[in-house]
Amino acid sequence: MKAYRAAILRFAPDCEPRHSAIFEEDGLLVVGPDAHGTQVVQAVGPYRDLKDQWPDVALEHLPGRIIAPGFVDMHIHFPQTDIIGSPADGLLPWLKYYTFPEEKRFEAPDYSAQAAAFFIAELLRNGVTTALAFATSHSESVQALFTEAHARQLRLITGLCLMDRNAPVEVRNRAGADGSRNVTEQSLMDTEALIKQWHGKGRLGYAITPRFAPSCSEAQLRGAGELAAKYPEVWIQSHVAENKDEIKWARELFPDSRSYLATYADFGLMRERAVYAHCIHFDDEDRALMRDTGAVAAISPTSNLFLGSGFFDYAGADRVGFRYGLASDVGGGTSFSPFHTMLAAYYVGREGQTKLGLSLSPQHLWWQHTAGAAQALGLDGQRGRPAVGNLLPGCEADFVVLNPKATPLLARRTAHANSLDELLFAMIVLGDDRLIEKTVISQAF
Ligand code: GUN
Ligand code: ZN
Repeated sequence: MKAYRAAILRFAPDCEPRHSAIFEEDGLLVVGPDAHGTQVVQAVGPYRDLKDQWPDVALEHLPGRIIAPGFVDMHIHFPQTDIIGSPADGLLPWLKYYTFPEEKRFEAPDYSAQAAAFFIAELLRNGVTTALAFATSHSESVQALFTEAHARQLRLITGLCLMDRNAPVEVRNRAGADGSRNVTEQSLMDTEALIKQWHGKGRLGYAITPRFAPSCSEAQLRGAGELAAKYPEVWIQSHVAENKDEIKWARELFPDSRSYLATYADFGLMRERAVYAHCIHFDDEDRALMRDTGAVAAISPTSNLFLGSGFFDYAGADRVGFRYGLASDVGGGTSFSPFHTMLAAYYVGREGQTKLGLSLSPQHLWWQHTAGAAQALGLDGQRGRPAVGNLLPGCEADFVVLNPKATPLLARRTAHANSLDELLFAMIVLGDDRLIEKTVISQAF
């Protein structure tokens, strides 16, 4: 058991409005093992109320610091770490000229391993304690990422990228070594083998990962949907409605579906735990399909601004009522830092302000990258498991220690914050990895 005294940020259970935060100026966070040995929050609240209840617990006093839930990144590409900031006219040329040439290299286990080590360290340095990540179409990259995340105890979900057409052969899935299975069959067999090997091991989860409909044959999408039905606990991740040229292409390839999004539903790929990145160019029928199937959106604002893809429509999402959270989408996205992502989401929300009626509050932005993202991923305490993305009793003890005086400008600005919103906004606008003094990961004993 261990206790931390500091300011503490958390979100009320089922709080209404769902994104309002609770802030303890002088708080106590007590962490210790649950019945399964997982390190969880045992108690949280005002220091003066709790201190006498935990007299024998080792106490770390962190004056001037803020403890907040670890961030949840709902969509990031581990093999794109080294191509951040590669400019292109739009998504499709960016994939062709930068992404696919880099992703080819991940067939080599050594290359994948060193990239995975850097990637996981970089997530932790930026305060990210849960991530849903893409690997490449080579199982070597999936093995490397799971292995590294397991070693560092990061809660990570990934899977073999499914792409059996419309990409250079080096980044497509490979046929079986003995020639007995074609590329599509082998990719589905490899997916199932990886589910059995990794899903539920420690803090790891598997995501069935059709890259996007244009890179998958009908047979591959159908097979992915069959696996999704067979393994309902497993996640699904893909991309949808990001870019106008991409949408046109997807509509040409799957003309029988009502829309690009509906293609995924037609192959059994929309359900709880299905996470679609971007979701920009939707109509209300698409939004209703998201709501009714339980699929969720990974909003990726730095990527959408960098690649000129468009603006996620918050007002539309809230009007129809489907779930969403925030994502970096590195390397289309420009930063591992959740502060940069929250700021970009604020800009995107401003763009749609006339429709929404008000801009996104800093508490809502923070919620979208912590408790809201965890809820969208189904990691908010469902199915009897501890929740992540929050610091309520019973949540896994994943948290960050923030130093609001980390830079001279942050120190000046936060000293003049007159409300919680002003404090959170100052950190969102001025923050980066320097604000994260420490990232603490829930340890199993
Ligand atoms: N659509 C298909 N693949 C990708 C990718 O790697 N990044 C983004 N942003 N969109 C995609
Ligand atoms: Zn992506």
